[in-house]
Amino acid sequence: MHLLWGALAASASLPFSQAAVKNHTGNGFPNGRAAVPFPNVVYPGASVPYAVAGAKTNQTSPPSYPSPWGTGLGDWAEAYEKAIAFVSQLTLTEKVNLTTGVGWEGDKCVGNNGAIPRLAFNSMCMEDSPLGVRDTDFNSAFSAGVTTAATWDRQLIYQRGFDMGSEHRDKGVDVQLGPVVGPLGRAPEGGRNWEGFSDDPYLAGQAVMATVQGMQDAGIMACTKHFIGNEQEHFREPGEFDGVELPGYSSNVDDRTMHEMYLWPFADAIRAGTASIMCSYNQINNSYACQNSYTLNHLLKNELGFQGFVMSDWSAQHSGVSSALAGLDMTMPGDESFDSGTAYWGANLTIAVLNGTVPQWRLDDMCVRIMAGYYYVDRPNNMVPDAPNFSAWTTDTYGPYHWYANKDVTQINYHVDVQGNHAQGIRALAAAGTVLLKNNGALPLTGNERLTTVFGEDAGENGWGPNGCGDRGCDNGTLAMGWGSGTANFPYLITPQEAIKAEVRANNGNFESVTSSAAFNQMQALANRVGQPGVGGACIVFANSDSGEGYITVDHNEGDRNNLTLWNAGNHLIKTVADYCNNTIVVMHTVGPVLVDSFYDHPNVTAILWAGLPGQESGNSITDILYGKVNPGGKTPFTWGKTRASYGTDLLYMPNEGDAAPQLDFDAGIFTDYRGFDRRNETPIYEFGFGLSYTTFSYSNLQVQSHGITPYVPTTGNTPAAPTYGTVSNDTSDYLVPEGFDRVPVYIYPFLNSTSLNASSGDPMYGIDYTFPAGGYDSSAQPYLGAGSNVAPGGNQQLYDVIFTVTADITNTGSVVGDEVAQLYISLGGPSDYNAKVVLRGFDRITISPGATVTFSADITRRDLSNWDIDTQNWVINDYPKTVYVGTSSRKLYLSSPLDTSSSGSSNTTSSSMMSSASSYSTSTVWSAPVSSASTESAASTESAPWTASTPETTPWAASTESAPTWSAWSAASSGW
Ligand code: NOJ
Repeated sequence: MHLLWGALAASASLPFSQAAVKNHTGNGFPNGRAAVPFPNVVYPGASVPYAVAGAKTNQTSPPSYPSPWGTGLGDWAEAYEKAIAFVSQLTLTEKVNLTTGVGWEGDKCVGNNGAIPRLAFNSMCMEDSPLGVRDTDFNSAFSAGVTTAATWDRQLIYQRGFDMGSEHRDKGVDVQLGPVVGPLGRAPEGGRNWEGFSDDPYLAGQAVMATVQGMQDAGIMACTKHFIGNEQEHFREPGEFDGVELPGYSSNVDDRTMHEMYLWPFADAIRAGTASIMCSYNQINNSYACQNSYTLNHLLKNELGFQGFVMSDWSAQHSGVSSALAGLDMTMPGDESFDSGTAYWGANLTIAVLNGTVPQWRLDDMCVRIMAGYYYVDRPNNMVPDAPNFSAWTTDTYGPYHWYANKDVTQINYHVDVQGNHAQGIRALAAAGTVLLKNNGALPLTGNERLTTVFGEDAGENGWGPNGCGDRGCDNGTLAMGWGSGTANFPYLITPQEAIKAEVRANNGNFESVTSSAAFNQMQALANRVGQPGVGGACIVFANSDSGEGYITVDHNEGDRNNLTLWNAGNHLIKTVADYCNNTIVVMHTVGPVLVDSFYDHPNVTAILWAGLPGQESGNSITDILYGKVNPGGKTPFTWGKTRASYGTDLLYMPNEGDAAPQLDFDAGIFTDYRGFDRRNETPIYEFGFGLSYTTFSYSNLQVQSHGITPYVPTTGNTPAAPTYGTVSNDTSDYLVPEGFDRVPVYIYPFLNSTSLNASSGDPMYGIDYTFPAGGYDSSAQPYLGAGSNVAPGGNQQLYDVIFTVTADITNTGSVVGDEVAQLYISLGGPSDYNAKVVLRGFDRITISPGATVTFSADITRRDLSNWDIDTQNWVINDYPKTVYVGTSSRKLYLSSPLDTSSSGSSNTTSSSMMSSASSYSTSTVWSAPVSSASTESAASTESAPWTASTPETTPWAASTESAPTWSAWSAASSGW
């Protein structure tokens, strides 16, 4: 009975009235619907205050009420019809059950809401993670987000999303807790950056779009997270630090940075139809993310027109009524703190609706949004037997269904193998996301090396087993994912050591490895042997850098990295080998950038690869690259700076406001990563978007077609008034615990234990004179925002009008087939402290045969050309002259053309400024100085950049022909591409 009736009885001991009295919002302002957000008067003294100074310590967040009700915009219409029909039949407690989790470890998934047994509607299963099904077995461990982004390949990204979604579906998961675009990656040390894609909002936006589409096409709901400003692990939740109780940190973000950086990829997730969005732990401008009316009501639901539901991160809810009015729709895992047995919602939400502190329309809106997500992805036709067929709390076959209460022992794991043929895709994607940073002709290996040697703990097994550290909370053996909730159990983990050895032995070669971190003498001796005349071969050194979620500390790193150096004495390891072996190939598995300054230009370091976080097929993927079975085409999704300081942003490691909330000022504004490097004229070692190939490419013939710019019309008009669905009985006896009900201890239920709301609350503060924002109760028709839409989610739909189409020819000037990621950047013009030098606005990964020319094409939308204007609260294409660039990285932009964004530039003509000859490359580059010497040095054939058409015949191995691969190796490889 409990299995179905998950959330049915109330605990007699629940203190029920937190909903009515708790408010930590910092939003207790009089009703103000659309105050000017983060007004620039708070940045005195800054020349362009909203762009440069960023938000300030103790900045506040403007109130925005009421919470917008979903209306079934765009392709959500049918899902809304079904959801409304469903919700209209529900009783008050059944509605509350949809919104509230049953408590930590109360059911089988990492989160479950209550069931509606009267309608045979099961509790929904919410399960991590963004890279596979967490906490179970016979699942795949996919590549992490950061490696996925490094492919710059929308098709591969979509397929990964679909395969992950299929695995969740087949385990009986309703909501996969991913993908991640927050953190975006403001500071490179951020512990969870790797769960997301890239610190560039455009690349992250494209990746989240393809991922959400893939996941949801498989028939499960995506939960795009963490909304918003969730950029570090330190102080993310209220807690103790050095004996002092601290609130969670506040990300202080200015309005323009919010729109142009952090909100941008969420807009793309919404356009892709993400069914849910998870609000984060941190505060934004000193209001907690799960009760911040500005970010949830104004930005997410009003401006972006989000039609799905907002789910709290686990225990990120800090109020009852306030969070409801501020736009939260579902609380997870449902209890106030893990296994407290108390809840802000559950029975308290029932009370709040009955006493009028939460209007019925708001509860109905929560439910319709949840059910609309459910129907939007067609959950009813994607159910599996025994769902969920696993328990997040054990892999034992039998055990308690209600884990924390240790109740109802039954079969809880069916060990369903959901892997399908996903291993192939994982291998291909990890290889596609591997970035070749340096190659002096050492790669690809021929397979005929006399002695192949492998060094470093990162090449080998974790002696505790691939899953030996809970949630991967250690750095033993090869690194294939970071740690925390963003993980999955490995079904197996192919190590580089075993894969390379198998490859070498297939060619009857000799192989030795030293994978003990401390064995420097043995490493030196082995490297020395390779370096001997008459021996030769390759020394492949593996090193890593790890990070994860803040609830686990690894080697003194509390989630966030303490530094940007390689772990396990990686630098010393590389130097030890490189000093003796003149063909040292460095492979790095890292969560983000590391400092490579100590070895990248070592004369014996002949090649460097960033293999990211590849997942279960790690060894196979890197072997495919090393031996040229796959030609590398990945591009780095972040910048590799010379020093930690070159990033210009850092984490907050120590509280900075006494016992008040630590203040994390996003004072770099839009100038993070390459934008910041460019602005400061800081030369990186490897720039954003950089990556080499075993072939070479040239760029020519830039064409710009203008489709015309129609006037941008801010959206006007009003929403309908807030609807209600079904009636709510005022008879409190209708909501009492059903008689004789056998409740699960410490479970969160929606029922009252008394007909008196006050008594039922059990809270001595019930009914205190507290004023909630009056606007929160306004159910009248509301004006649409100018930047919003009354047509479809994602904001004003004119933002996605295509204004220009840009094409360029790319020729494979080498002798092997290869992938090139052509990248389109735009200079939006204006002062250098206002706009970045260039911003990424298009890309495509294209496979090109030797000698062939393929046309790259990318559309530029109105949004791509716009800045967020804080005065008009809308996107504006301003008068600053704009230029489009096409090239192979953020600093190798070979082709350029002005973009005429004046109304006179709206004819459908071809730009006369197109670049059609190879000789125009150097003059058309955005950089007045030649490309960074560091990057040039690391290019395949140093003195001639590999893709300049003036030396088309130059290939990485042309200079040292003996290392060129045979054609048979390439044709074998190409069959897998
Ligand atoms: C907290 C993490 O921040 C979130 O990403 C995850 O989905 C939940 N825990 C559930 O595990």
